[in-house]
Amino acid sequence: MKLFDVYPLYNITPVKAQDVFVTDENGQEYLDLYGGHGVISIGHTHPKYVEKITDQIQKIGFYSNAIQNPLQVELAEKLGKLSGCEDYNLFLCNSGAEANENALKLASFETGKEKVIAFENAFHGRTSAAVAVTDNEKINAPLNSQHSVCFLALNDSEALENELAKNDVCAVIIEPIQGVGGLDQGTTQFFKEVEKLCKKYNVVLILDEVQSGYGRSGKFFAFQHHQIEPDIITVAKGMGNGFPIGGILVHPKIKAKYGMLGTTFGGNHLACAAAISVLEVIENEKLIDNVNVVSAYFFEKAKSLPQVKKIKGRGLMLGLEFDFEVAELRKKLIYEEHIFTGGSNNKNLIRILPPLTVKKEHIDRFFEALESIVLRYEY
Ligand SMILES: Cc1ncc(COP(=O)(O)O)c(C=O)c1O
Repeated sequence: MKLFDVYPLYNITPVKAQDVFVTDENGQEYLDLYGGHGVISIGHTHPKYVEKITDQIQKIGFYSNAIQNPLQVELAEKLGKLSGCEDYNLFLCNSGAEANENALKLASFETGKEKVIAFENAFHGRTSAAVAVTDNEKINAPLNSQHSVCFLALNDSEALENELAKNDVCAVIIEPIQGVGGLDQGTTQFFKEVEKLCKKYNVVLILDEVQSGYGRSGKFFAFQHHQIEPDIITVAKGMGNGFPIGGILVHPKIKAKYGMLGTTFGGNHLACAAAISVLEVIENEKLIDNVNVVSAYFFEKAKSLPQVKKIKGRGLMLGLEFDFEVAELRKKLIYEEHIFTGGSNNKNLIRILPPLTVKKEHIDRFFEALESIVLRYEY
């Protein structure tokens, strides 16, 4: 059997990884400023994480959600405490798309309505409703286009109110900082307006923190930069540091009913052990403080490179915009300088999503590499 060929692949085969470095089969080391797409939060193969998962699999790795699982309770308590969202309730699943799918379904149950407002250039995943609220026709099949969705421009609260006033909307879903879209974000004024309008029209406000959550923005959740209170927060990526786990944090005003949501694998023992370990390391190693320190350093360094036209994002969810397409530059960073970075819908933008353990010295190495390429190839 061959693999179903849906990914264009770089010709690199990592066989091991540690903290911010990935090593390929030939022993070549790469600086990972991409974190496997914003997934690696506490660093690759963190010893505490490896220990916790190893210990757990030797006891019990999985049983269904029909039994008591104290690890889920421990995870919910820790997540509530560390995020400041103690009053919310947690439902666990396996991925970001699934988290958004569950959030949208819950909003529809809650309001009895079906239309969703999303934003231009949004990315929320590839499953049924999650892909329908993703602003990319190419990844929406006819099956997905059955959903009722309206895309609006970020920061246009007038257009939002016009749509909400039609009284057929169940949810507004928004990324605090767009990831795949290219690091655009709404203003604080806009987020406050969105919150106010959702309350006024009894619409569920879903903040997609799948990429921006877990400290990446310099606060536990990126929406916390705007002092708003979402109805549902969706999480995945950094939550498990590579172990597949996702979840939704549900405001206590939304009440649970048996059977409303469900999953076979979601919240299994092994996934919970991974996710608990991630929270412990974020707390013990003060990784959110590190995000802020290294982020400020990155902004300073980026300002000194004239080819960089714009620095976008927050914390360690960053983008460097150039006035040319960056695909070749990113290839040179990988193959000549051995540094992983990310791309986005914006072809002129390099995306930086390192493990939250990254240090100033790694940022130095990145900018030295960038300067050297820019000089060598006369960008
Ligand atoms: C903001 C956002 N939401 C949802 C998803 C989908 O997550 P997953 O690939 O785990 O389904 C992504 C993935 O990139 C994302 O960036």
